[in-house]
Amino acid sequence: MVAATQQQMVTGLINGQEVTAPAGTTILEAARLAGIEVPNLCYQPLLRPWGSCRICTVEILGKRGGMVESCSAMFQDGIEVLTHSPDTMQARQYILQMYLIDHALDCPTCDKSGECYLQDNTYLHNINANPYRRPKLAQPYEHFSDTIDYKWDRCIMCNRCTRVCDEMVGVIAIEQANRSLEATIAPAFGRSLEENSCTNCGMCIAVCPVGAL
Ligand code: FES
Repeated sequence: MVAATQQQMVTGLINGQEVTAPAGTTILEAARLAGIEVPNLCYQPLLRPWGSCRICTVEILGKRGGMVESCSAMFQDGIEVLTHSPDTMQARQYILQMYLIDHALDCPTCDKSGECYLQDNTYLHNINANPYRRPKLAQPYEHFSDTIDYKWDRCIMCNRCTRVCDEMVGVIAIEQANRSLEATIAPAFGRSLEENSCTNCGMCIAVCPVGAL
C-alpha cells in the first residue's frame, strides 16, 4: 500500500494577514485564498504563468528591489507581501498609462466595454490623464477568418490567446509576430487560419481580456 503524501504548506503575511497555502502556490493565488484580489491582465488560471503585463506587481517587504509579479512569483514561508501599497499602486498606474498610449480608447462603443480588464483597471487605478503623449500608432483591423477579426489597437500583447491555443487546444493556429511596438498577433507560420490548424473553437476570443479578437 502506498502511503498518502502530505502536501507541504507555506505560511506568510499578505497585507498583515496570515495566509497558509500549498507550496508552489503563486502570490496572486495565495492572495485569492485570503480573499484579496490582485489586479491582473495576462494571468489566466488555466494557463502557465506568463508574467508579461506587470499589472499584478506587489511589494515584498525586505526584498531588494521590492517589486515582483505576483502571478509568477511563489508564495514562500515567512514572506511579507503588500498588494496595494502606495508604491505598487503607483507602479500599476505607470504601467496602465503606458498601455493607454496606443490603446483605442473607444470604450463607449467597444463590444468588450463593461467586461474589459483594462477598462476596469483604468478606473480602479484612477487613470484620468496620461503624461505620455505622442501620436498614436495604428494598424488596420485584420480579418483572420470568418470567426476572428483582430484589432491591433486594442491588443495588450498578453498572449492569452496564443497560449490557450497552444496549451489547451493544442493546435498553435495563432502566434505572436514581430517585437516591440510592431508586436502583433497573427495566424501561425504565415498561413491563413483556413489553411492552418485552427478549429474555430473560439477559445482565443473567450480568454482575450480586452476585446482585441
Ligand atoms: Fe502578472 Fe500579467 S498578471 S504579469
